[in-house]
Amino acid sequence: MKGNIVIKDASELVTCSGFSAKRGPEMSDLNVIPDGAVVVENGAIAWVGKTSDLPVSIDRSGFEVIDARGKAVLPGFVDSHTHLVFGGYREEEFSWRLNGMGYMEIMARGGGIVSTVQATREASLEILIESGRKRLDSMLSFGVTTVESKSGYGLDRDTEIRQLEAMIELDRTHPMDLVRTFLGAHALPKEFEGKKEAFLDFMRETVLPEVAEKRLAEFCDIFCEKGVFSVAQARRLLNKARELGMKLTLHADEIVQIGGAELAAELRAVSADHLLQASDKGISELARRGIVATLLPLTAFSLKEPYARGRYMIDNHCAVALATDLNPGSCFSESIPLLFALATLYMGLTIEEAVTALTLNGAAAVARADSIGSLDVGKKGDAVILEFPSYRFIPYHIGVNSVEKVIKGGELVFDKMNGGNLVC
Ligand code: NIG
Ligand code: FE
Repeated sequence: MKGNIVIKDASELVTCSGFSAKRGPEMSDLNVIPDGAVVVENGAIAWVGKTSDLPVSIDRSGFEVIDARGKAVLPGFVDSHTHLVFGGYREEEFSWRLNGMGYMEIMARGGGIVSTVQATREASLEILIESGRKRLDSMLSFGVTTVESKSGYGLDRDTEIRQLEAMIELDRTHPMDLVRTFLGAHALPKEFEGKKEAFLDFMRETVLPEVAEKRLAEFCDIFCEKGVFSVAQARRLLNKARELGMKLTLHADEIVQIGGAELAAELRAVSADHLLQASDKGISELARRGIVATLLPLTAFSLKEPYARGRYMIDNHCAVALATDLNPGSCFSESIPLLFALATLYMGLTIEEAVTALTLNGAAAVARADSIGSLDVGKKGDAVILEFPSYRFIPYHIGVNSVEKVIKGGELVFDKMNGGNLVC
C-alpha cells in the first residue's frame, strides 16, 4: 500500500510533461488533461490520462483513492534556490532597510550575512535540524516537494559541514527531498578581513575537496558580486569544483552587472541565479548554452530592487525557473503564492510560464528534470492538489495558499482538510 495512490476526476491534470528544461515559447505548454487521473505505484507515476480511460486492471484495493473533483492537480513544486538552514534571525535589518539603508551597505558595516554566520556557528546540529524542519513543514504546505538548500552561513570548515549534515538528516527524516549545495564562498568572514585570496584558497583547497570527497554536496555555488567575490575569483573556485565532480550554480548579477551570467555560460553551470542586472549578452549566452535562468522575485520585492527581466529572457529563448531564495536576510519568505503573484504581475510571465518555471524548469535547475517536475510515467509520484478547479487560481488568489493536499512519492503528506496538519 505504501506509495500507491490514485488521484482521479481532477478538473485539470496539469502534467507539465517533459524531461528537460523548456525554453522560450515551450514554457507555455502545460499539457493539461481535463477530467484527468494519475496512478502512482510504489512511489513512482505508473499511469497518466483521462479518468474515463483509467485501466480497470489496477487492483484498487492496494491503492488509496483520492477524488479530485473540482480541483486542479499539478506536479509538486521544486524550489531550486534557498538558504533554509541557518541560526538566528535579522529582523532589525528589515527596519534598517525601511529607513533607507541598502543591503550592501548593511553588509559593508559587518551586518547581513556575517551576522547570520555568527549565529549559525553558535547553533548546534540539533538546533539547525529542528529549525530547518519547521521551515520544510511550511514549504511542504505550499506544495513544494523538492528543495535546494545551500550552506554558506559557516564560512569555516566545521560549520559549513554541520549545515550540510543538518540537510542530510532533514532529507532522511522529512518527506521533502533536499538537494545540497556548498556555498562556502558566500561572504568574507571577520577572521579573514583583508585576506580574501587566503580565504578563497582555504575554501578551494581544503574545505571544497572534503565536501566533494564525502559527497556532502552535489552543487557548488558562490556569491559573485561587486564587493564580494569577483568573476575571476568565482571562475577559479567553480573550475576546481567541477574538477572534483560537482555541478555548478552561481549568484550572478544580483546587485551590480559584473558579467556573472556570462561566467555561468562560460562554465556551463546548471543554473545562474538572481540576474536582476544581467546584460543582454549574458542573457543570450544563457539561452545559447541552455543554462537555466533562476529568478527570485521575492528577493527583489523584499530589497526594493528592480525585478529580473523575466519576460525578456523568455522572449529571448531562455529556460526560466522561479525560486523563493528563502534566507534570514534579503528574503525571509517561502511564500509560493506571493512568488507566483510577483512573477505574473510584475515580471510579465504568463501563468503557464510561471507554472513551468516552478515545476519542470525548477527540476532542471537542480539537474533532476528526468525524475521530478512533471506528471510523466516513471517520475516520482509528487503532486499538489489545489482547492480550486484551475491552476489559474494560484496567482489570482493573491498571496494566499491554494494548496489543499500534497502527495510525496505516492503518499499523502499534507492535507488542509486535516486542520492544516501534516499527515506525515
Ligand atoms: O541569495 N545574495 C546573497 N545571498 C543571499 C542572501 C543571504 C542573506 O542575506 O543572508 C541571497 O539573496
Ligand atoms: Fe541566494
